[in-house]
Amino acid sequence: MHSQSEKRSSNVVWHQAAVTREKREIANGHKSAVLWFTGLSGSGKSTLAHAVEERLYEMGVKTFVIDGDNVRHGLCGDLSFSDADRVENIRRVGEVAKLFVESGMVVLTAFISPFRADRAKVRSLLVDGDFIEVYCKTPIEVCESRDVKGLYAKARAGEIPAFTGISSPYEEPESPEVVAETGSLSLDACVDHVIACLYEADIIKGGVS
Ligand code: ADX
Repeated sequence: MHSQSEKRSSNVVWHQAAVTREKREIANGHKSAVLWFTGLSGSGKSTLAHAVEERLYEMGVKTFVIDGDNVRHGLCGDLSFSDADRVENIRRVGEVAKLFVESGMVVLTAFISPFRADRAKVRSLLVDGDFIEVYCKTPIEVCESRDVKGLYAKARAGEIPAFTGISSPYEEPESPEVVAETGSLSLDACVDHVIACLYEADIIKGGVS
């Protein structure tokens, strides 16, 4: 596998689109952005991202969810859970999310994305304000007691190496745009919180339909 910083394409020239992001945003009636959900396995990232998407969809907002478990069946199916492969996973997803932003959509990504530096890199790929970090803050004890996929039990038994929160680190966000208390608040309350942030950031307005 090539390292993430190694660029091997040469003699490629950027083609400027005539249908710009701005035109798409005007046609859509809302701005585009990335809602980057981060948190431990079982913290509720996918559940919250899909619930926010449903709410936005009902409002007529163009959305798409990119989910870690799904992406690891295809685009990132060649990657393991080593530190280097997690870095590459997030780099690829960051680039894909950036394309979705160009397409005028609100893209919601649900990845553990355990490393601060990688999340910062994705943020820096985008214009200020386009990256909204949503920290799904469920304590590991709660994630482990839920153990929806049975992975914590396997990790404790030593059957899954480098499991986040157990044998691999998770670096909490320092200043996320949203802290979703997914461990203690209801799903609806967390959705409200994210939607309020989108209004505040002027990404959606009252009249989107
Ligand atoms: S990330 O660390 O590279 O961002 P990602 O979000 O794509 O991870 O995938 C996490 C999902 O893979 C978890 O929800 C879990 O279902 C599964 N998984 C399998 N092995 C591991 C592991 N070693 N650590 C964390 N999650 C794992």
